[in-house]
Amino acid sequence: MTDEREITLTVNGTEHTIEVEPRKLLVHAIREDLDLTGTHIGCDTGNCGACTVLKDGEPIKSCLTFAVQADGSEIMTVEGMEDLPEAEGELHPLQEGFREEHGLQCGYCTPGMIMSGKALLDENPDPEEGEIREAISGNLCRCTGYQNIVKSIEYAADELKAEPATADGGSVTAAERFDGETDFDCGVEDCCGGPSADGPIEGADPQFDDVGGEDT
Ligand code: FES
Ligand code: FES
Repeated sequence: MTDEREITLTVNGTEHTIEVEPRKLLVHAIREDLDLTGTHIGCDTGNCGACTVLKDGEPIKSCLTFAVQADGSEIMTVEGMEDLPEAEGELHPLQEGFREEHGLQCGYCTPGMIMSGKALLDENPDPEEGEIREAISGNLCRCTGYQNIVKSIEYAADELKAEPATADGGSVTAAERFDGETDFDCGVEDCCGGPSADGPIEGADPQFDDVGGEDT
C-alpha cells in the first residue's frame, strides 16, 4: 500500500492540494503533479541548479527538497515571472535580459539562472558583477560560459531601475506616457491606436495615418 500525504503548495500565487509519497522530491511534484515543466532536472543531485525555484522567497534546489518539506509554503517557478507587475503583461526584465544579451543557447539552465537572478535582485537591486557571479555560482551552464548570463542579469537590474512606476507594483499607463492635451485613453476596447489619432483621417489609407501628427 502506498503511503501518501496531502500537502498544500501555493505555486505562483495559486494554491494546490496534492497527494504525494513522502519520498517524492519537490521538483517531481512541481513537474509531474502540477505540470509546471519550466523547472528543469539536470542532475538530481544538487549540483547543476537547473531545478532552482523560490521557496518563501529564497532560492532552493528543488531536487534536494522533499515535497512534504514544502507543505504550506509559497513556491515561485519560472512560469510565474510573466505574472509579476514588472513584466507588464510581457516578459519579465530578467527573461528579456537573457534574450537581449544572448544569455542562453540550449536554455536548459535558464529557468534556474532566472530564479537565482530573481532572488538576487529582490535582495540587492544594484549588484556588482562579483555579486551576480556569486548568486549564480550554484547554477551550471554547459553552453554559454557565464559572461552573457551576467550581462543578462545586469540588463534586468538596469531595466528594473528604469521602471520606477513598477516599484509600487503599478505600471506606467499609456495615458501617462502620452500626457498632454490629448484625451487618449488606451486600455479599452476599440483603442484609437495612439494619441495623434482622434479618429481615422477621412480618405486616407488607415495604414498611413499620421502618427507623427501635431498631437505627438
Ligand atoms: S537538478 Fe537539482 S541541482 Fe541539478
Ligand atoms: S544555455 Fe545550455 S546549459 Fe545553459
